[in-house]
Amino acid sequence: MYFSALARTMAAAFALCASAALHAGEVEVLHYWTSGGEAKSVAELKDMMGKRGHTWKDFTVTGGGGQNAMAVLKQRVLAGNAPAAANIKGPAIQEWAELNVLTNLDAMASFEKWDEALPKVVADQMKYKGRYVAVPVNVHRVNWLWANSAVLKKAGVAALPKTYDEFFAAADKIKAAGFIPVAHGGQDWQDFTVFESVVLGVGGTALYDKALVKLDRAAMTSDEMKKALEIFRRIKSYTDANSNGRDWNVTTEMVINGKAGFQFMGDWAKGEFLAAGQTPGKEFTCSAAPGTANAYTFNVDSFAMFQLKSWEAQKAQGYLAYLLMGKEFQEKFNLRKGSIPVRLGMNMEKFDDCAKTSSKDFVATSASGALVPSVAHGMALSSSQQAAMRAAVSEFWNNDKLSVSEAVAKLVAVSAPKQK
Ligand code: BGC
Repeated sequence: MYFSALARTMAAAFALCASAALHAGEVEVLHYWTSGGEAKSVAELKDMMGKRGHTWKDFTVTGGGGQNAMAVLKQRVLAGNAPAAANIKGPAIQEWAELNVLTNLDAMASFEKWDEALPKVVADQMKYKGRYVAVPVNVHRVNWLWANSAVLKKAGVAALPKTYDEFFAAADKIKAAGFIPVAHGGQDWQDFTVFESVVLGVGGTALYDKALVKLDRAAMTSDEMKKALEIFRRIKSYTDANSNGRDWNVTTEMVINGKAGFQFMGDWAKGEFLAAGQTPGKEFTCSAAPGTANAYTFNVDSFAMFQLKSWEAQKAQGYLAYLLMGKEFQEKFNLRKGSIPVRLGMNMEKFDDCAKTSSKDFVATSASGALVPSVAHGMALSSSQQAAMRAAVSEFWNNDKLSVSEAVAKLVAVSAPKQK
């Protein structure tokens, strides 16, 4: 692996004390943060880089969940024209590091004590063969259910549903009151986002971990898994006819505007509510997806740093890495993004109740063992396995003729290489 310890240490020193203009450079950053809330969050970063005299170059590829971005990134890297940094997450970081295209951030990491500042589960994902190659910026919780307070009130739904029985009873009332019960965007990653929350709600972390993370055959073919698939299918009957292909943020807008009651989505959705001027606990609510209050599916956005030739570009990249892990950025960015800082020991005073709950639950579930990686958001499986699982789940969602047993058989077939 390319080793630039000296460069990193110097970059850290520059970041701390040197004059901005003297060391300015350009950073090109690949991301897919193009929705209203996402754009506001990334603007904080651009602003902070700009204040140091660095030039930010957007390399945006639209498409929620980042699948499109990864495809475009591959072409660029293969052509020998990698950006300085790219939003790459989970096991995909290892896949990129294996290609020997990422840079070693260890000098910066030890200078800035990243090991002490990060939860171990996150730090481990940022390292390849023990060396930091990526920088985490947040923790998104995925197992949320968002609701429009006025719609629920008009429909006579007094309490947020804690079980699927309560959820379907509420959905019936919302439907009867003339609203769309569940806003859903029919794209494979959004289908899987709902699916993994249902699996967690029905079978707890034990089923989730065995069936979706370890791809254990017995768990995948279990009655609990079949029940989860039935509930998942039943949720579809509460979505509208135009959901196919709809982007997640357009879907969140349906809840914001009072067209729909609920949406299953990670807390980047909160970024949209906030960008629309809404407040949690007032116009909208966040609650754990039914049955998942004591569990937490985590999704950590991180930037992998690519090897760069120019010294100026390396310096700007070093400053970016330093900035991303800094307390100021972690607070400003996450206040807009809907997530919580990944840095430990941050003051949560300025954050809203959803973020405070998320932070408290993150700590509690990491102690209880109920902190699990989001499969839908690339935290658990290899890219190819994840794609195959997503396709199987979406096929079931889209094809009402496919039976639960057939869906189970497909899941077993696509996950075969990892099975024990
Ligand atoms: C990412 C978020 C992003 C969301 C929608 C998730 O996988 O982690 O940062 O906002 O997808 O694109």
